[in-house]
Amino acid sequence: MHLRPSYPIVTSRLRLRPLTTGDLDALLGYHSSPEVHRYLPMQAMDAANILERLTKGNWSRSTLEEEGQIIMLGVELAATSQLVGDVMLRWTSNKNRSGEIGYVLDPAHLGRGYATEAAVAVLRLAFAELGLHRVITRIDARNGPSIALSERLGFRREALLIENDWVRGEWTDEVNFAMLENEWRLLQPGHAANGQS
Ligand SMILES: CC(C)(COP(=O)(O)OP(=O)(O)OC[C@H]1O[C@@H](n2cnc3c(N)ncnc32)[C@H](O)[C@@H]1OP(=O)(O)O)[C@@H](O)C(=O)NCCC(=O)NCCS
Repeated sequence: MHLRPSYPIVTSRLRLRPLTTGDLDALLGYHSSPEVHRYLPMQAMDAANILERLTKGNWSRSTLEEEGQIIMLGVELAATSQLVGDVMLRWTSNKNRSGEIGYVLDPAHLGRGYATEAAVAVLRLAFAELGLHRVITRIDARNGPSIALSERLGFRREALLIENDWVRGEWTDEVNFAMLENEWRLLQPGHAANGQS
């Protein structure tokens, strides 16, 4: 198993592509915000944190070669090439063919369906290209917009983990959602079960 996509990944309004150091200012614009990071496990970042991730860390990767790796893709508007957010795919286990997705939008671009559109493309990578069997989302139970996004994407709510994480001085509850490959296939346009055939 491996994932070596052809970039950019084009959707109706967006392009998904590897992040570069040229994205530093745009990424800093929203990843430096404590409000954006309120329900994320990592703290808001400064330019040095972001640059390190872009050059040496997980944000520099554009393929998945082995379990445990992550790709972070920039989400840009096709019309203007403006970076509006980023999406993540983690390959958690080779044996279990499992993974996880995540997403962050610049607050200036909320409420237009961009995160949904980008996540749909990442789920296609996960199931159709990497060949995963199961993909999850793990969300702070207070993060209503992210929970709504998982539900909009067709994930099943599986668990509420009480005081599962110690984050910035407090215990936090975590909601887990999951989608199986066969559930994802049923959601695809043209499949008889979704009424679009
Ligand atoms: C989680 C997050 C990405 C969700 O952003 P979002 O803007 O709500 O999600 P989308 O971009 O998919 O937009 C959906 C909204 O746009 C609306 N919308 C408009 N056009 C749409 C379209 N073409 N398709 C889908 N939704 C559309 C939807 O009705 C929905 O509105 P609502 O919230 O009033 O119901 C965002 O809140 C965020 O970045 N949070 C901070 C980081 C974070 O917590 N990430 C998750 C960690 S687990």
